[in-house]
Amino acid sequence: MRPSRQHPMPSQAPALPLLLLLLAVAPPPAAAVGVNWGFASSHPLPAEQVVHGLLLPNSVTRVRLSAASPDALSALAGTGVAVTVGVPNELLRPLAASRKAAAAWVHDNVTRYASAVLFEYIAVGDDPFLLNHGQQFQPFVVHAAANIQQALDDAKLSKKMKVVVPCSSDAYQNTSTLPSKAYFRPDVNKTMVELLQFLANHSSPFMVELNPILSFQQKKNISLEYYTFQLMSHPIIDGHNKYENYFDASIDALITALTKAGFSDMGIVVGRAGWPTDGAANATPAIAQSFMTGLVNHLARKSGTPLRPKFVPTETYLYSLSDEDQCSIARGTYERHYGIFTFDGQAKYYVNLGQGAKALKNAPDVDYLPSKWCVVDNNKDMSSISSSFSAACSNADCTALSPGGSCAGVGWPGNVSYAFNNYYQQHDQSEESCTFNGLGLITTVDPSVDNCLFALAIRTSAASSFHPSLTTLWILVLWFCIYSLA
Ligand SMILES: *[C@@H]1O[C@H](CO)[C@@H](O)[C@H](O)[C@H]1NC(C)=O
Ligand SMILES: *[C@@H]1O[C@H](CO)[C@@H](O)[C@H](O)[C@H]1NC(C)=O
Ligand SMILES: *[C@@H]1O[C@H](CO)[C@@H](O)[C@H](O)[C@H]1NC(C)=O
Ligand SMILES: *[C@@H]1O[C@H](CO)[C@@H](O)[C@H](O)[C@H]1NC(C)=O
Ligand SMILES: *[C@@H]1O[C@H](CO)[C@@H](O)[C@H](O)[C@H]1NC(C)=O
Ligand SMILES: *[C@@H]1O[C@H](CO)[C@@H](O)[C@H](O)[C@H]1NC(C)=O
Repeated sequence: MRPSRQHPMPSQAPALPLLLLLLAVAPPPAAAVGVNWGFASSHPLPAEQVVHGLLLPNSVTRVRLSAASPDALSALAGTGVAVTVGVPNELLRPLAASRKAAAAWVHDNVTRYASAVLFEYIAVGDDPFLLNHGQQFQPFVVHAAANIQQALDDAKLSKKMKVVVPCSSDAYQNTSTLPSKAYFRPDVNKTMVELLQFLANHSSPFMVELNPILSFQQKKNISLEYYTFQLMSHPIIDGHNKYENYFDASIDALITALTKAGFSDMGIVVGRAGWPTDGAANATPAIAQSFMTGLVNHLARKSGTPLRPKFVPTETYLYSLSDEDQCSIARGTYERHYGIFTFDGQAKYYVNLGQGAKALKNAPDVDYLPSKWCVVDNNKDMSSISSSFSAACSNADCTALSPGGSCAGVGWPGNVSYAFNNYYQQHDQSEESCTFNGLGLITTVDPSVDNCLFALAIRTSAASSFHPSLTTLWILVLWFCIYSLA
């Protein structure tokens, strides 16, 4: 059953011969490539299906969870997949304020799973140094990390996993300057000195998060080849060094900033590197495939960077597993479209996650809602339509309608129908969610046009049949005991 049409495969793009060549000679991925798995979805695939239908069949060996989702951790138990767990920014203040809170966090979200889940890193904060965030998280981030570290020591877990703090590249990289000119932003300088000392004390690496499409949008005069690891006719010259790609330049900018701060030898983990496929110009599956495939092949060659020849980041986490329709769009309307897979687990393009030259396997047996869509009823008086459109988009995900997005060209009232349908699917196709002052109409004819997909939602785990796992049962029993005692 596949009610929504596939995205056009990038093999239709003009770069076909080059892609075939890349496929034919694709080296094995560096063992240390992982994937980010986030949870900001209105209709996520069940965690069991993600692990047994996507991660394991595609030989993924590492995942980075944006938060300690109990479902994801239970599903990962016993699989041997290495796991990084995120601590959201909202928790930084309470975790910094109290060792007890940090001990509870570690107990509830790590210790409980530690015998069956292979934890690798605890990533404290979600890009707390991002320029957009201002300084709001800086007073808490190192204390929170230190309290988590202490709790891990107390739980005798600190030999098994390390504490890291994900840091966005805008903390050290000014897109208009060369790698050798990089330094940590003055407003993060003080916190950074403490953080680097903390990391060094525990032999933990520096985790960096790259945002190549933002850099591409800002650097107007640099060609896309620089971002997709293709041969550059005019590499960037920085003193004696020559940069052919964005990735190496970013890593060397970081090494320069670390060196200026006195930590030239610090290890580096790339916590995020990806390219979106929708929601903006140049956000397409074909470019995303070039970036991802180029990156994985580049890492596998282990050629290193001009400042650290032969060096590869200890791990690199591709961003991301699947689209998340409730992700913040503060950084850009493309933020919800970073998935290698669509929200329903269908591969958008080829990249070697560990499965080699084979195509990626899609999630099997996806449980879709019925083939029904909500569109504008053309026979009605449309004078109030723009307020209905705004109402739908304030809740639904309308980012595909953004300039350059896959639905930007559908025209009026197709764009309103897109919004109505997205809202309707987000509300599990309830009849009330297709009212829109009488302007909504439920249809069984797929309204998708060209690349603009009118997706059907999948049944959420709450709505589908409930199969309690052992862990769930155990938690229920525990819960019952606590409540009957209270
Ligand atoms: C982790 O532990 C804390 C403290 O016990 C708890 O509040 C939180 O909900 C847990 N789960 C996640 C996803 O952080
Ligand atoms: C980047 O550097 C240029 C030149 O030094 C400066 O004008 C600009 O404000 C800097 N941008 C940021 C975001 O720091
Ligand atoms: C790092 O270790 C030194 C020496 O043990 C100690 O004085 C310092 O407080 C530690 N710093 C951090 C941030 O953990
Ligand atoms: C791009 O523009 C910047 C600033 O105008 C300049 O310093 C840089 O050399 C240019 N890069 C290329 C590759 O032309
Ligand atoms: C912070 O700024 C001081 C003075 O400008 C500099 O010496 C130091 O290396 C900077 N620290 C970091 C972490 O960039
Ligand atoms: C919908 O399409 C019409 C016609 O192309 C256009 O004028 C209008 O701005 C679009 N609205 C949105 C929100 O995309």
